[in-house]
Amino acid sequence: MKINVTQILVEEHQLILRMIALVEKNTALLASGKFRNWTFYLDAVDFIRNYADRFHHAKEEDVLFIELIKNGMPEKQSPIEAMLMEHDQGRAHVRAMEEAAQKALAGETGQAALIADHAKGYASLLRSHIEKEDTILYPLSERVLPENVRPRMLTAYEQAESRMPGLKEKYLQLIESYEIQHAA
Ligand SMILES: [Fe+2]
Ligand SMILES: [Fe+2]
Repeated sequence: MKINVTQILVEEHQLILRMIALVEKNTALLASGKFRNWTFYLDAVDFIRNYADRFHHAKEEDVLFIELIKNGMPEKQSPIEAMLMEHDQGRAHVRAMEEAAQKALAGETGQAALIADHAKGYASLLRSHIEKEDTILYPLSERVLPENVRPRMLTAYEQAESRMPGLKEKYLQLIESYEIQHAA
C-alpha cells in the first residue's frame, strides 16, 4: 500500500476549519453589536499565521507543491498557481484584520465593519480553498506522486513540525477555550 502524504494535511484542515467556524460565529455577533472582544481577532490572526500559514501552508508550499512540480505538474496556470494565489489572498486579509483589531483595541472607533469584512473574506476564501484541496488537489496528488518520493515527503513534514515544538497543542487549547466560551 502506498504511503499517504495528504492525510496529515486533511487533518490539519480540520483544526483550521474549527477556527474559521469561531471567526464566522463571532463576526455574525460583531455585526449585530453583541461582540466586542478584539483580542479574539488577534488570537485568530496568531493562529492563522503560525498554524495555518507557517505550519500547514509551509508543508504544502515547501513539500507537496514542490514534489508535484518535480513530477510533472506545471507551475504556472495550474492548480498550484491558483492555490499559491489563494494563500497570498488569505495573508492579505489577515494583515488587514490584524491592523483593524489593533486599532480597535487601542480605542479607535469604526473598526468593526473593517474587521468583519476581512474576517468574512478570509473565512469564505479558506473554506473554498480547503474544499478544493481536500476534494481535488490532494486526491490528484495521491494518484500522481510516485512511491519513491513519499518517504522523504513525510520526513520533510516531520522536520517542519520539529521546528515548531508544542505548536499543535498550544493552538488546540486556544481553540477549545474559545469553543467552551461559546457553548456557555
Ligand atoms: Fe493551501
Ligand atoms: Fe491546505
